[in-house]
Amino acid sequence: MEINWEKLRLQALQASKNAYAPYSKFPVGAAAIVDDGRVVTGANVENASYGLTLCAECSLISELFASGGGKLVAFCCVDADGAVIMPCGRCRQLLSEHAAAGMMLETVSGIKSIEEVIPDAFGPSDLEES
Ligand code: THU
Repeated sequence: MEINWEKLRLQALQASKNAYAPYSKFPVGAAAIVDDGRVVTGANVENASYGLTLCAECSLISELFASGGGKLVAFCCVDADGAVIMPCGRCRQLLSEHAAAGMMLETVSGIKSIEEVIPDAFGPSDLEES
């Protein structure tokens, strides 16, 4: 599947406009293509109890399920200027659970697979009885 990264980045930038980031003043937008072709987005939602902040990826995953589920095949997140940022470690874990095998991400060091940015990820199979 050919990914239009520029378009996905712009969709992430558009999503960042919905961020609630009064504390960090660092709005983040995320966008991903689902395996059925639809696009899901998210933005960060902060909280006065700072540690409760929801990253943009959290709301993207919520939208994934609210709109029918599926697996992510391509993902990117950007800051308020539209520059690509790396998903934080927690969000790499969050994404890996809902990523199709080989999901591609646009990163600060080029296009990479989810397996490259979170190698040997803990996942559902680790919970299976052996
Ligand atoms: N943030 C995200 O939304 N996603 C990430 O992957 C990195 C960080 C948000 C959390 C917080 O609202 C702001 O960026 C500054 O850390």
